[in-house]
Parts: sequence; C-alpha cells; structure tokens
Amino acid sequence: MPFVSCCPESGFDIRALESLFTDRMPRLAHMRDAASFAQDLSESFSLPTEHARLLIRSALLHDIGYASALRRFEYHALDGALFLEEKGEHPWVVEGVLRHSQADRKGGGCLS
Ligand SMILES: [Fe+2]
Repeated sequence: MPFVSCCPESGFDIRALESLFTDRMPRLAHMRDAASFAQDLSESFSLPTEHARLLIRSALLHDIGYASALRRFEYHALDGALFLEEKGEHPWVVEGVLRHSQADRKGGGCLS
C-alpha cells in the first residue's frame, strides 16, 4: 500500500496494527480493503498526494476502535478517534474515524 506511510512524522505507527488485531484478523482485512478502495478513489479523482494519503490513512484506521486493547466506551468510532488523537494523529484522520459511524452525534462531542 504505497500511499500509506507506516512511519509518519507524527501519529499512530500502522506497523502496530497486526498486533492490535491478532484476535480480529477479518476486521483488519476489512480495514485494508477500505484503504485499497480509498486508494482507487484517490487515483480516480486525481487527489493531491497529501489529501490522498490522509484519505487512505483514514480508511485504513477507520475501525481501529474495534481493537480489544482500545475499548473504553463500547463505541468503536469514539474509542478509535480518542486513541488516535492521543497518538498525535492528523486531525483530519481523527475526524474521519470519529465521523465514519456518526460517533460525533452519539458521543457528546467530547473531542476538542
Ligand atoms: Fe468498517
């Protein structure tokens, strides 16, 4: 997956995904499929490189809150967004993870 940097200047290191999802490999496969689709869309729409990178990264990480180790509020979008925010992830990615399942309307808007 060439657009998704495993070592961004800040944010979550995606090399840790495998260890977070050892008990949920089908979920990780779904996340990778979403990232692949996002990459296809990025190329189809000729998105600028940085926008494409953020879109693909958001797609890859959108369900990270399903990782057992990250559970806090029993709502995967909120759990994932809070985790990524703490890791210094780009705000666009955090927002995408939060909004992909309308968590911004269910979680009381607790992300600043
Ligand atoms: Fe999903």
